[in-house]
Amino acid sequence: MAFVVVITGASSGIGRALALSWAKRGASVVLSARGQEALERVAAEVRAAGGDALAVAGDVTVEEDRKALCDRALGAYGRLDVLVNNAGRGYYVPTVEIDPAELEAIYRLNVVAPMRLAQLAIAPLSAAKGTVVMISSIAGIVSAPRMGAYASSKFALEALSMSLRAEVSSRGVRVLVVRPGPVATPFHANAVVTDHNVGYRPPGHREQSPEEVAEGIVRAVEAGREVLETSVFVKAASLAVRVAPGPTRWFSKYMARRSGL
Ligand SMILES: NC(=O)c1ccc[n+]([C@@H]2O[C@H](COP(=O)([O-])OP(=O)(O)OC[C@H]3O[C@@H](n4cnc5c(N)ncnc54)[C@H](OP(=O)(O)O)[C@@H]3O)[C@@H](O)[C@H]2O)c1
Repeated sequence: MAFVVVITGASSGIGRALALSWAKRGASVVLSARGQEALERVAAEVRAAGGDALAVAGDVTVEEDRKALCDRALGAYGRLDVLVNNAGRGYYVPTVEIDPAELEAIYRLNVVAPMRLAQLAIAPLSAAKGTVVMISSIAGIVSAPRMGAYASSKFALEALSMSLRAEVSSRGVRVLVVRPGPVATPFHANAVVTDHNVGYRPPGHREQSPEEVAEGIVRAVEAGREVLETSVFVKAASLAVRVAPGPTRWFSKYMARRSGL
């Protein structure tokens, strides 16, 4: 029987790379994003890589589109093993300049959509003893200057995931939270405000490729893991914020002043 994966934000970056990693393992991949053409191109790549593909264009912030995504996946394949909540967007601006309407739009995409899709998919995921993958970020555990809007959405996603994980474990459903650091995708170009002063990138730091991140995620699902921090950089930042919160706060102020705030 086919292994069925639904991936949001599958037309680009990490989502596309995830679709291809699962395709190489022979999975049936249901691809979601708003742009139909880009989605169809990834569907063709998935089939060429050995998987089956169904492209379902839609906006995950729209309830009818979320329901259609789940219905089409179940209608086509009759089961669901993995839901990957990957679609997301950045918003980089000093906190005193956050536009409430933009913040609400970011929360609808980065927080409400993943939670709602998990609700809609929980019955088939329970039947398959499947996995919900939440693509969080290093910004889900540590914020920085100009990252308040985006990081607060990922912090919220982390909290929802922590509760969901405990609540659905009795049904045999796992929740994997993934924390990438910087990844080479169009994500920063697609952000509501693109600001190159953002982030915790030490000198010489390299962005991960989406393929490297995707392969790590697929292996983490296979291994039944609950948290994946995708690089040494993320693991170091995650440790620093827990064991040395004072110096982390000092460094954040230093970064803010150095970038002109
Ligand atoms: N790249 C990084 O450095 C980085 C680091 C940490 C975490 N992340 C997280 O990784 C995830 C994927 O990011 P990425 O780097 O792969 O970004 P990306 O290349 O910009 O891809 C974003 C994907 O989401 C889709 N999307 C955006 N809005 C949507 C909507 N309303 N409904 C449905 N689909 C939508 C886009 O397609 P359409 O525009 O056609 O809809 C696209 O397929 C995000 O959750 C992001 O927060 C990224």
